[in-house]
Amino acid sequence: MKRDVMYNKSASSDHEHYLSMVLAYDNRIDAILPMSDRFFDSCISFIPEGPISILELGSGTGYATSKICAANPQALITCIDHSPDMIRCASQKPELNAVAIIEQDIRDPWPATKYDVIMTTLCLHHIPEKDRLVLLKRIYEALSPNGKFICGDIIRPDSLEVEAIYQDRWVSWMSQAGMTTEESDKMIHSRNENFPDMETVPGFYNKIKDAGFPRVLMPYKNEIAAVFVGYRS
Ligand SMILES: C[S@@+](CC[C@H](N)C(=O)[O-])C[C@H]1O[C@@H](n2cnc3c(N)ncnc32)[C@H](O)[C@@H]1O
Repeated sequence: MKRDVMYNKSASSDHEHYLSMVLAYDNRIDAILPMSDRFFDSCISFIPEGPISILELGSGTGYATSKICAANPQALITCIDHSPDMIRCASQKPELNAVAIIEQDIRDPWPATKYDVIMTTLCLHHIPEKDRLVLLKRIYEALSPNGKFICGDIIRPDSLEVEAIYQDRWVSWMSQAGMTTEESDKMIHSRNENFPDMETVPGFYNKIKDAGFPRVLMPYKNEIAAVFVGYRS
């Protein structure tokens, strides 16, 4: 399905429901993603100033979108996500009133225009590895000549022994951040499920290069997440 979304924000029971979902998701990002501030700050620091156009892929509750709006209030932002619930959450946020939100799979065609920035956070590991290079090539083609691709995502090491160490440390992080054992077990289960489709640092760096980006930066990396920035020229 592909549609621009205009939800009625005043329908009160719906409104309460989706606001509580927003809180449940947004308030947990810190607990789930170690040093999430640094991760998101790194992404946002590459957003240029001025009336630029930005496409955000897999925008979810609009957690990163709100940060983009705060960093550049002049930006014209289009978001894509395939989850109606996530989009409803984003639509509850007053700061996103001017953002166009499209409900569709990010692998389907986007609005036919060029963007100064295409950004995505914590989304591409949900895309099967086989589809990722095709998607990266489309991102390259959809950028204006001086455009930038900003991608913050979950990564994996290339050895299972190292992965076991990182998982232990991640569980400790989540526990110290107040998550229950049941909650952190679910996160580990989800990571293990996504593991085969996750990128290693060199693997993702090379894919972005192969998609056509001549310059690729990795301004931030921790044990399980990294930020990559591809320059179109
Ligand atoms: C973990 S959330 C991240 C949301 C947001 N970018 C953030 O950083 O908080 C992943 C989002 O990607 C969306 N997503 C995953 N696969 C997708 C696909 N193939 N097409 C569109 N959206 C997708 C999900 O619906 C979800 O909202």
